[in-house]
Amino acid sequence: MSFLTTENSPISFTKPGALEETRFEKIHNIIFNNSEMASKAVAREISDLIRLKQKEKKNCILGLATGSSPIKVYEELILLHKNEGLSFKNVITFNLDEYYPIEIDDKQSYYHFMEENLFKHIDIKHENIFIPRGDTSQNGVNEYCNKYEDLINKSGGVDFQLLGIGRTGHIGFNEPGSHLNSQTRIITLDHITRLDASSSFQNLEQVPRNAITMGIDTILKAKRIVLLAWGRNKAEVIKKAVESKISSQIPATYLQLHHNTTFVLDKTASSELVRIREPWIIGNCKWNEILKKEAIIWLCKKLQKPILKLTDKDYNVNGISSLLNYKCSAYNLNIEMFNQLQNTITGWPGGKPNSSDLRRPERALPVRKKVVILSFQYDRAIFSMGGTIDRLIEQGHDVHVIYLESDNSSVTNDECLKYVEVFRDILPKNSEGVMDAAITELNNFKQLEADSALIQRIKRLIREKESLGATSYLGISRKNVHFLNMSLCDDLKSKEVDLLKEILKKIEPQQIFAAGDFKDPHGFEKKCIDFFKIAFKELQTEMLVKDCWVWLYNASLREWNTSEIDMAVPLSPDQVIKKRNAIFNYLSQREEILFQGEDTRKFWIRSEIKNRKTAKKYHKLGLTEYEALEVFKRLKEEQSI
Ligand code: F6R
Repeated sequence: MSFLTTENSPISFTKPGALEETRFEKIHNIIFNNSEMASKAVAREISDLIRLKQKEKKNCILGLATGSSPIKVYEELILLHKNEGLSFKNVITFNLDEYYPIEIDDKQSYYHFMEENLFKHIDIKHENIFIPRGDTSQNGVNEYCNKYEDLINKSGGVDFQLLGIGRTGHIGFNEPGSHLNSQTRIITLDHITRLDASSSFQNLEQVPRNAITMGIDTILKAKRIVLLAWGRNKAEVIKKAVESKISSQIPATYLQLHHNTTFVLDKTASSELVRIREPWIIGNCKWNEILKKEAIIWLCKKLQKPILKLTDKDYNVNGISSLLNYKCSAYNLNIEMFNQLQNTITGWPGGKPNSSDLRRPERALPVRKKVVILSFQYDRAIFSMGGTIDRLIEQGHDVHVIYLESDNSSVTNDECLKYVEVFRDILPKNSEGVMDAAITELNNFKQLEADSALIQRIKRLIREKESLGATSYLGISRKNVHFLNMSLCDDLKSKEVDLLKEILKKIEPQQIFAAGDFKDPHGFEKKCIDFFKIAFKELQTEMLVKDCWVWLYNASLREWNTSEIDMAVPLSPDQVIKKRNAIFNYLSQREEILFQGEDTRKFWIRSEIKNRKTAKKYHKLGLTEYEALEVFKRLKEEQSI
């Protein structure tokens, strides 16, 4: 084990077998600050093992995974091969799984994945690589699976098994329902797994329905198992795997039976573990302002009581009496906390003119602020803060919207076809050829083929016009709407940063709203805020933006935790309807939503439910009951910029 090297030191570490004494955790886990550090530590453990086996003149049998989780481990192994001469000549690999059916030269096949991400960069012998073949005939597939299992056993069994985890709790492709004794076999993929894979296959229909996978028993026979999980998206399933009872419904819980398994996590993947989320339950907790707030909100939820009704006894009986040392009695502490939450509520998101702003979230001056709202995927700002935008306009602020991304992929061909047919029918005769070509392309669209430049342009324009419809419905003038047309999928260049800087320089905003959930599963929000931060920091250094406060909205379906909220803007029932009407402008998004997940409710419904839920949460804590609340976190300078 080499997890404790100084450069890759984890945040939290105990040896396998010596679990955190938490009553809750049943699988050894190590939390790193980020996935880079974690991957380096894992690659180091693998390379140490390979070298040890070399000394012993033995083969090293590795069980390997595909997907996004192990990529950095593979990159690190390649570096160790190139820079430190790590040889893979004594290594035999068995991959966990493969889609079925799939051709091995298909770009989505795991054959292709492994070749590109590892094998072609190292000196492994070709005959030592084993990956289940997705092109095996249907008749022969069961026999093939048995042979694969035999081969693993005959090789002496896996020394080190690398795993990822799916949101269903699958390891390999052992989906919910998999039996403890299962061996290599063909399996039907869960709907959520197929949804998660759909972005690499372009759409859901393209994702194979089956896969060949090593079984749970096959995996548990490995001498050492390391499971990797990164990102907020994995936090819930990690909690279940580590803390809940063993169940076939969460196959990763079977790993609780293995004596030498470690889960290697980054901070966000560990964020739902009791030890991290509710540390006061585990034992002595080092209180800070945020934890204090979280613990009191937790207590209210647990006892179903509003803050002002909590008693000394409630604090004592529920193990957080140490909090009372701060204010001596529940009465004082409750009032302090109640006031803090009360002060986040404002109907004046741009600041209330002619009144003291000591306890208000935003400054009173200047009375008429220049406000910038940054949005990605065109619709996110309206979904997330349509009601607040309405208030800002109504209260006389000069509101600008900057759309960062040119997102055309989420317009379906059927939707696009309608527009193209209209153009064709009204355009002068000599333009018909172009539209006819577009119609032919849309009607003969082949999956996995990229749209032509013309179709991409039409789809982008549809999204642009919908956005303009939504913003002008809320009263933002056309000249205040800016389209940067970037692609958040690519690496953002200094040219794009300059473009954003240029616009911000012209506007000289005093208030900026940006999407900022760093834990967002698909990384767009993180990319968006990172990109903005570069531009904003440069402008601040050049003294080109002064006294500008940045507010973060959460564009995902999750909302900020109540303890994180710095500003809560109430929406009246009429404003909820107005926001809904603004969202209706995004007609092309009504059916297909990229990354929709398993929740099939329409986006406007989910946005309303989110705002209503937040209002309910506030009300349950004893604060005023509102129809809905849009909430924001302030990006403080020390946090980031
Ligand atoms: C892939 C595999 C799967 C993935 C899991 C997580 O070989 O066995 O269990 O590890 O679906 O995928 P990522 O890492 O893409 O989140």
